[in-house]
Amino acid sequence: MPEPEPPMSPGEFPGAIWYGEEEMEAALRVLRHQSPFRYYGPHCGFEVRRFEEEFARFLASTPGRPWPDESDIHVTAVNSGTGALEVALEALGVGCGDEVLVQGFLWISSISAILRNRAIPVLVDSDDTLNMDPAALRATVTPRTKVIMPVPMLGGCARIGVLMAVVREINREREREGLPPVRVLEDCAQSLGAHAKGAPGSRVPLGEEGIHRIGTFGDAGIFSLQINKNITAGEGGMIVTRDPELHRRINALHNAGYAPDPSNPANWYGDVPVGWGHGRRMSELQGAVARVQLSKLDAILAGMRHSHARIEDAVRALGMTPRAHADAENPGDTGYYCLFQLPPGPADEPAKIARGRSVARALEPWGLHPWFLHDFEVHVYYNILPLVEKWPITNGCPWECPKNIFCRNYQYERGALPRLDEALITTVGVNVPSRMTTEQEGRIVNVLEHVFGPGKY
Ligand SMILES: Cc1ncc(COP(=O)(O)O)c(C=O)c1O
Repeated sequence: MPEPEPPMSPGEFPGAIWYGEEEMEAALRVLRHQSPFRYYGPHCGFEVRRFEEEFARFLASTPGRPWPDESDIHVTAVNSGTGALEVALEALGVGCGDEVLVQGFLWISSISAILRNRAIPVLVDSDDTLNMDPAALRATVTPRTKVIMPVPMLGGCARIGVLMAVVREINREREREGLPPVRVLEDCAQSLGAHAKGAPGSRVPLGEEGIHRIGTFGDAGIFSLQINKNITAGEGGMIVTRDPELHRRINALHNAGYAPDPSNPANWYGDVPVGWGHGRRMSELQGAVARVQLSKLDAILAGMRHSHARIEDAVRALGMTPRAHADAENPGDTGYYCLFQLPPGPADEPAKIARGRSVARALEPWGLHPWFLHDFEVHVYYNILPLVEKWPITNGCPWECPKNIFCRNYQYERGALPRLDEALITTVGVNVPSRMTTEQEGRIVNVLEHVFGPGKY
């Protein structure tokens, strides 16, 4: 069989490769106005404020339909996804003595934001979506749990509707026991635009049982606008919530601790501090570019989903199992990555790891940006050395804090999450760019057929 041609995929940066005249004009608009700061300037265009309003409308939209004029979602733009996590956790009241439950397939920031808030991360095992398993969550929660943090990875949703129903059940029990409710923070940095089935709300349902954008199910959600994300301003983050009081806290904490006065935009530092704040404001340059990118998001998602479906069909035809969709009938994943389980093979772990590495090496020359998940850097809990070794922030904090004494029982080496561990040594993925021609998709299929041909793996 002749060797396939490389797919010549247009790169793995979904938002950035859609940059065009519109983004350039948006950036120039801010520069011409000499007003790169969000709250004031010689001719401030309030780009960040408009971006927040548009983002809220996008999140309230039903996929495939125009955005509604109104939204009950409150949005705060910040300068990174990591910053968004730090501010959101603090606004939710996380601190010494608290546990934050998080899955083991994530990004290092999902952990560092917990530690920076002086709390202890507690790992929850994954299901076949590779995200947080609702049953494992039920078994891991303790009276110390303050926040639960699902992390829909690489565009693939968790079973968030089921997770929220479990959380509501947990909170009913906690109420009877006189414990404060647990809250949910969705870390959707990698999955802007994905949707899933369920009812939002951690205590009572806050909306219809139905299709909602992820990030709007929990008490708060965050997104990232870094270059690998579905839309990008180079850097940037968003924090969203339906809870007006939580929004006020988030808004204040991102802005030196002072909530801007909504009735008077000129009073950008408000009057009453809510606590020690952060310097996390988004600049007008980021806001202006991000507004244009948001207007292209539906097209970006449509491109990735279309190509993903074709690649996933090819994977199935080769006898392998693609990562499960949270809702198989109505998949709302963004399609950013196609992950699949290798065929049944060696039984022992070293041989499985050797096979996964050899598959990734075989895919590498064809430009598919493959990953063997076991080696997927600090997206995997046991690859995060500062977590495994429990490095302190400073002066032993938070591991040696007397209020965190319980953390001695928690370990973060491989073996902590048996189901995820097994998935990571048997799963490989390829990137799905958002702007592929039918011919380029076909070349990816040819590469997969070549690498996974009969008798190869
Ligand atoms: C799951 C997850 N959370 C948080 C972040 C942090 O976002 P940022 O890079 O914008 O700080 C990322 C970024 O890659 C991420 O993938």
